[in-house]
Amino acid sequence: MQDYTILVNKEHLLSSDYVPENLVITDNNENNFHNYKDASLKPMVSADIMPYLEAMQNAALYAGLRRIIVDSGYRPYEYQKVIFDKFVAEVGLEEAKKAVALPGSSEHQTGLAFDIAYMDNGVYIENTSDSDPEIKWLKENAHKFGFILRYPLGKEEITGYKYERWHYRFVGVEMATILYDAGITLDEYYERVEQENHSRGR
Ligand code: DAL
Ligand code: ZN
Repeated sequence: MQDYTILVNKEHLLSSDYVPENLVITDNNENNFHNYKDASLKPMVSADIMPYLEAMQNAALYAGLRRIIVDSGYRPYEYQKVIFDKFVAEVGLEEAKKAVALPGSSEHQTGLAFDIAYMDNGVYIENTSDSDPEIKWLKENAHKFGFILRYPLGKEEITGYKYERWHYRFVGVEMATILYDAGITLDEYYERVEQENHSRGR
């Protein structure tokens, strides 16, 4: 079983050969991000999170929203490098670092994180906006299904990334609720745990 609360950020890296064991294809459609960039890559996530993801997708539909789909899920180390290099070419190294993780430091490599898009009556919609009811709904409800908005507005200095309204990460319902209630990121949670252990002399 995977550690759903694993911290992956600019300081906590995955090895280049890390591949989650039980990836499953989800929300495959011919327009999505992965197919657009590389036809061999389908949107995949860890099978463990599928029941939570489907419950969240169905709850959103039940609330009258468009279907929330996984646009970009698992990304192999090498593919993360392709994306990073593409951004560097487009916006330069410093800006790229604020938007895309260097290979080994992306949560997408865990299979526990994904970027969302919508399907609206069979029409694929890649662009999201803060005024979308789906974005507002996810922000207030995703934790109930074990997901967190990983790069929130106002936390850029802590996460090291610009606000990403589309990037959600599974951490399990318990941890997601702790983080939501405390209004903190996963990085801050682990910082606090470390401080606590330090002050206890551990
Ligand atoms: N955009 C996020 C930070 C990633 O590349 O994993
Ligand atoms: Zn992402």
